[in-house]
Amino acid sequence: MSVEEMLGIVRELPHQLGDALWRVESAAVPRADAPGGLAVCGVGGSAIGGDLARAVLGDRARRPLRTVRDYALEPWAGADTLVLCSSYSGNTEETLACYQAAGEAGAPRVALTTGGELARRAREEGVPVIGVPGGIPPRAAVAYMVIGALECAASCGAAPSLRAEIEGAAGPLSGLAAGEEEPRRLAEALRGRVPIVYGGGPTAPVARRWKTQLNENAKRHAFWSTLPEANHNELCAFAAGGDVTLVLLEDEGQHERIRRRIERTAEVAAEAGLAVERVSSRGSTPFERVMSLVLLGDLVSVLLAGLEGVDPTPVEALEQFKRTL
Ligand code: F6R
Repeated sequence: MSVEEMLGIVRELPHQLGDALWRVESAAVPRADAPGGLAVCGVGGSAIGGDLARAVLGDRARRPLRTVRDYALEPWAGADTLVLCSSYSGNTEETLACYQAAGEAGAPRVALTTGGELARRAREEGVPVIGVPGGIPPRAAVAYMVIGALECAASCGAAPSLRAEIEGAAGPLSGLAAGEEEPRRLAEALRGRVPIVYGGGPTAPVARRWKTQLNENAKRHAFWSTLPEANHNELCAFAAGGDVTLVLLEDEGQHERIRRRIERTAEVAAEAGLAVERVSSRGSTPFERVMSLVLLGDLVSVLLAGLEGVDPTPVEALEQFKRTL
């Protein structure tokens, strides 16, 4: 798949929002009160939806909402937790292990997948399946993953439903998806550099998303970190220099002290000779703003692949690694 084709898929994100809501509705996930909240089990492109959902909810979350990137849930998780097993392929061993472990713990489960072993087992055991459309790279299904997590959070009492907020974001995000200038400028700025992406509060998981998209699409080293934590350690490495570009992700919903920390971090990094890019979210709701930064990072990573002469789509290193395990 060419850079243009991958860009086309990324630009589909705003159109996927309504479809994602409809798919959750069609799965008829039962409303169940889960005092332990929601655990989203998955890895890679299938895990990030849990983190982003938590970021979008912010202080609207009423119960824990966590992402489990492992082979098992925490030992204390049980029947009071709704477990969303999220795997694009449905064949990821970590997610299948969590599906099994959650069943043994007596936890209510939901599967979010295109099919595979996960869908097969879920159908056999009467577990609701939220269908995700096939034929795209898992990481391009981020809208389905985040909306699946948000709607499951609502169904188990961990959060209010954000349907109206999600629907309202489609129009403004379409405008951003069509924009060329900012993603191209940032891709140029990151060419030949090692990006370190910082987020804080609602942008913390977005920083992780940027990092993983730069890894998988542009096939580049990239790192991420969060504020305030990075101010307590990584600052010491700024003086070491290197081909580093620090990307700071900003949002009006950040704690005022995090916003101050971003200001100072940018100044200190620039004084140490690092290149710095400050990037702000856009939009009038938390969903729109978080997804605006996700969309921008996705576009930047694909455009950077183009600049570096790399095919953004195949992730052969990951596939081959899975086969050797
Ligand atoms: C993203 C990607 C990986 C997968 C991960 C888990 O495009 O290729 O990050 O998401 O290897 O696989 P799935 O999503 O099939 O459970």
